[in-house]
Amino acid sequence: MTLFKISLHLALGLSLTAAETPTARKKEKPNEKRANPTAAAVPSVGVHPFFALENIDTEGGEVFRIGGMAFDKDVLYVTTLQPDRTNKAAFKAGKVLRVENVLQAGKDGKKLKVTTLCDWLYEPCAIAVIGGSIYVGEKDRIIRLDDGVHKDFFQKGEETVMLAGASVPNFHTYTIGFEQYIKDGKTFLCGNFTTAVLIGGKRDVMIPPNPEVHRGSNFILGPVDGKETPDSVKLEFLAGGFRTPNGIEIGPDNAVWVADNQGVFNPSNELIRIEKGKFYGHYLRTENGRVSAFQPAAIDAEVGSPKGQTAATVHLEQNAVSRSAAQPIVLRSETGVLAPYNGQILLTEFTGGRILRVFTEQVGGVWQGVAFQHTGGASDKDGNNGLAAGPHRIEQGPDGNFYIGEIGAGGLWEFNGNWQGLQRYRVKSTTEVPSDFNEILAVRVVDGGFEIEFLKPIPANSIALNDIKISQWTYFPTQNYGGKDEGKMMLKPKALTFDASGKKATLIINGLKDDNDIITNGTLSNDNTGWVVNVEFNPRTSGKSLLHTKEFWYTLHKKIGGKEVGAGDVIALTKGEALQQTFQSLCMSCHVEREGGVWGAPNLKGILGREQTVMRDGKQVEVTVDRNYLIQAILHPDAVKSLPFKDVAMPPLGLSEEAAADLADYILSL
Ligand code: HEC
Repeated sequence: MTLFKISLHLALGLSLTAAETPTARKKEKPNEKRANPTAAAVPSVGVHPFFALENIDTEGGEVFRIGGMAFDKDVLYVTTLQPDRTNKAAFKAGKVLRVENVLQAGKDGKKLKVTTLCDWLYEPCAIAVIGGSIYVGEKDRIIRLDDGVHKDFFQKGEETVMLAGASVPNFHTYTIGFEQYIKDGKTFLCGNFTTAVLIGGKRDVMIPPNPEVHRGSNFILGPVDGKETPDSVKLEFLAGGFRTPNGIEIGPDNAVWVADNQGVFNPSNELIRIEKGKFYGHYLRTENGRVSAFQPAAIDAEVGSPKGQTAATVHLEQNAVSRSAAQPIVLRSETGVLAPYNGQILLTEFTGGRILRVFTEQVGGVWQGVAFQHTGGASDKDGNNGLAAGPHRIEQGPDGNFYIGEIGAGGLWEFNGNWQGLQRYRVKSTTEVPSDFNEILAVRVVDGGFEIEFLKPIPANSIALNDIKISQWTYFPTQNYGGKDEGKMMLKPKALTFDASGKKATLIINGLKDDNDIITNGTLSNDNTGWVVNVEFNPRTSGKSLLHTKEFWYTLHKKIGGKEVGAGDVIALTKGEALQQTFQSLCMSCHVEREGGVWGAPNLKGILGREQTVMRDGKQVEVTVDRNYLIQAILHPDAVKSLPFKDVAMPPLGLSEEAAADLADYILSL
């Protein structure tokens, strides 16, 4: 086997290597030695028992990496891509596939019939079918393929260009979507433009050739009906300030939901119910560039400030909750087993290979909400413990079942060799689901704490106060990559009472914080960021957990009532525990325990005494790694680079010397 190429990954989650080419699944060798390194970090709750995960295979055995998905009645249209992420060789062989037999596939030996409608697109990640025409979002263009006659192939040049010049080549710019947005009775394509990033994770200054385009923004383009002329459509921005908004959904109330990824200015992954004209915190640099829509001009774009941002609706803590938030889908008009979940959101998360569930509510006029694990992480092909590969897209078919479009690559997206495909996430009937199944259905803010609603009653006395673990923290969004948990504290539950039905519990917690609790460190602050409250709630009888979903992460912007922290309400953390948490939230998004982790970051375990060639001031020098080297590497990632990593950049993390020294000690203890 050839040496594994250093593969760089980003929150958007696609590989930078061009080493793999699309092949039939049977030709791919599962690599047993390199199991998905994220699997250990992902709580394993298996596939949700209300769903059955079904493999649906194609007639020719081919598999595909899905960038976008849209149903047109019972025919599924998908875009596929095989990106070369080196910024050198543009991948212009993206496809649009027409997939038939989707609803029948897997039954009586029926297979998917796939027709390749074109194979010359530039990394397409957006698709919609309107009025019989197919709209596709490429990296740099939005085009229309007129499929009214159901052609079986479109030659290059047969497309109608709706919008050109949306990006110059950059591995991190995509057009994401499309959802159909209705305004004044007319249909518009709704999508996101992701931002340009330097390999390594820093922001890039980028000037899209089209002066109308603002990257890092959510837009509508239209009106469209399948036959409009390019001159008749207009580009309009709904919101800005996103970094890697790799997911979009429009709810039944016409609310637009955007999922963004952790990175510069984004200390966590985020799910946002956008408000028109608002800016969500990711500042684009201005030198000769074009800033994000609604970016506040009064704030220095180089350093940014959370003071200029509108808060994310729900934070999805990096690693613990999400690693690459992708597509949200609102559950609506569900009957049967899913009826209690109407209005909630399923959110795909593809580095972890899992699906999250999110419940949101409006408190005092502000939208906020809570995230739960819905499925475990990726595992085997049949999804015995989770999904086969990274769930990138999710759509509901006309049969009411969900269809998951997957993507994978080498390294972090290995998924045991199952890198791609389409799986049916079938909703089970009421008679098929286990009768003893229970989980947390919803969490709402109430006076002094939270009301926790369960799907079914919890048996009396199955939970003691000290079975409940609570912690809370906030973030400082900065121009540095990611962000550690700030102001973190472990809280003790004050009281827990159940209502007469046993379905609702009220959990009282002293010391909860919300947007009014501003903390600062020098110029940094958590303005408009919110506080995350993590509660692990584990009712048991005779040692057996009664819940599938035991844990939740509530993003508090507005609490109701409640007391300040009193003596005995806080559990103190040791320095070691605090450092471990910092390392997990700040460093492990890149430095996972394998060579070339994420973004090509080296494995730091066992690094002490390693002899390596280092680039220092453009010269090669031999060094033996010691504590001081580590401190310098953490404080000044640009100044010192070991040779294999000379072309990748660790972003500055803005740590103090003391914090760097503590982290160096922590690395030495690994
Ligand atoms: C966005 C990804 C990313 C994050 C987050 C990150 N690193 Fe790095 N790190 C890298 C990359 C890439 C390199 C190699 C290139 C370089 O040295 O700049 C690196 C190099 C290093 C090195 C030098 C290793 C060597 O072999 O010379 C140390 C030490 C280090 N990182 C520590 C940390 C610590 C501690 C944190 C958290 C506080 C952290 N890093 C967060 C990507 C990251």
